[in-house]
Amino acid sequence: METNFIFFVFLLFILSATCQDSDLETDCTNKWIHIRHLPPQFNLDLLSNCSAYPLFDNFCPYLANHGLGQKTHNKSHSWYRTDPFMLELVFHRRMLEYPCLTSDPTHANAIYVPYYGGLDSLKYLYGPEINSSFQHGLDLYDFLVHVDSPNIWSRNYGHDHFMVMARPAWDFNQPLNSDPLYFGTSFLELPEFYNVTALTHESRAYPWQEQAIPYPTSFHPPNLAFFESWVNRLRRSRRTTLMLFAGGGGISANPNVRRSIRLECENATSMSANGTGYEKLCEFVDCSNGICQHDPIRFMKPMLQATFCLQPPGDTPTRRSTFDGILAGCIPVFFEDLSAKKQYGWHLPEEKYEEFSVSIPKEDVVFKGLSIVDVLSSIPRAQVRRMREKVLEMLPRVMYRKQGSSLGLRSKKDAFDIAIEGTLERIKSRLQEIAAQ
Ligand SMILES: *[C@@H]1O[C@H](CO)[C@@H](O)[C@H](O)[C@H]1NC(C)=O
Ligand SMILES: *[C@@H]1O[C@H](CO)[C@@H](O)[C@H](O)[C@H]1NC(C)=O
Ligand SMILES: *[C@@H]1O[C@H](CO)[C@@H](O)[C@H](O)[C@H]1NC(C)=O
Ligand SMILES: *[C@@H]1O[C@H](CO)[C@@H](O)[C@H](O)[C@H]1NC(C)=O
Ligand SMILES: *[C@@H]1O[C@H](CO)[C@@H](O)[C@H](O)[C@H]1NC(C)=O
Ligand SMILES: *[C@@H]1O[C@H](CO)[C@@H](O)[C@H](O)[C@H]1NC(C)=O
Repeated sequence: METNFIFFVFLLFILSATCQDSDLETDCTNKWIHIRHLPPQFNLDLLSNCSAYPLFDNFCPYLANHGLGQKTHNKSHSWYRTDPFMLELVFHRRMLEYPCLTSDPTHANAIYVPYYGGLDSLKYLYGPEINSSFQHGLDLYDFLVHVDSPNIWSRNYGHDHFMVMARPAWDFNQPLNSDPLYFGTSFLELPEFYNVTALTHESRAYPWQEQAIPYPTSFHPPNLAFFESWVNRLRRSRRTTLMLFAGGGGISANPNVRRSIRLECENATSMSANGTGYEKLCEFVDCSNGICQHDPIRFMKPMLQATFCLQPPGDTPTRRSTFDGILAGCIPVFFEDLSAKKQYGWHLPEEKYEEFSVSIPKEDVVFKGLSIVDVLSSIPRAQVRRMREKVLEMLPRVMYRKQGSSLGLRSKKDAFDIAIEGTLERIKSRLQEIAAQ
């Protein structure tokens, strides 16, 4: 691991120097981004502490390949054991090959802060600082505003700054001084950061600073050929299962949507699928205790054979599985708007949901006994085919391609590209509003 780690750091810096000249003809007007220089305590040092949190996973293995994790097997080109918390690294690495970087902050349309805020929060969430989580971010603020050249911040009061915080925003909105009552830090509650855009895995119901972007999945193709062969495989795949749920939970006696899904799925397994055109009505892939997290084979294979993938809320409304399912060409079924529609507006535009997903209110399932099998099996075949085509059309938008990927693949906008576009747009309108005041 040690050598891997040093190699990683080494590469990060070599590439920061070399990959600014791009082979793509890019028009950089209004797209210039400056990367703020941060001392390593705010990013790389946090990686060397990857085994220092006994109440959290040892995340050292997931640092490999610039945060994509280890390959699923030696010969794999596109599949990795990716941990979603590593998005801060993955994003940083991709930023270094962004074609419109500028070393001059006054020339930039947006300022990227390469801070690993989710990893930095671990010492407050699971470590020695558990009773001072209101301090999360104060040292960063001090550096950005007072220590480093203050003009970079003060030019636009931080409104042009953005960063990635690879956890749900809920983990950062604990009221100040409420330790040890609540889980979370107060980063997003600090007035110091109100003006900064934070890209998170999930936003709050009433988001302010944050915007949700897709969880990284395990699929990171390096070139167009690998991407296209995957999409062709999805097109050819025989979908013999009507619906699938991959996850855990739902074992308590309390009514909730996961429990309803578990019960209906057990029931449907014993029912004949005769006459439906499917071999199975429901498949339940047990992913409890995180056993699937770094082992994508467990759920990708069955997802490839399913028409619909159920994406119920769990501890929080969103799930990484939503994106795994889309990557498998499996049509998502949502049970509340906060699971995706009210979250990923940049990547999965709100007006398209009817075209690529099914929405079933969780109350109807839990309290009115609505059968999910009935709803899904009554959707006409032709409509199912159209929805799946739409899912495949959306697929590149939610995937994070591998860093340094080939030109052909770079012509397809991926989750990173769309996050950058959205951020630039958001900062532009923010600055216009302020100028108009
Ligand atoms: C890493 O862990 C050590 C020991 O727990 C701690 O002293 C140090 O401050 C940590 N570094 C960072 C950057 O969190
Ligand atoms: C995969 O590669 C590693 C390192 O090169 C090697 O140690 C290991 O034996 C290989 N595993 C297989 C299954 O080939
Ligand atoms: C945090 O505060 C609680 C309650 O005051 C106390 O029991 C606990 O020991 C403290 N933990 C640390 C790491 O200081
Ligand atoms: C945030 O922006 C407002 C102006 O829109 C400014 O008054 C305020 O000082 C800024 N906050 C910080 C912490 O810079
Ligand atoms: C299980 O199936 C039976 C017979 O089709 C049905 O009456 C019952 O409501 C089903 N239960 C659940 C939880 O879906
Ligand atoms: C399936 O349905 C057909 C008629 O629709 C019937 O002939 C056949 O026996 C059924 N098979 C099973 C296993 O129920």
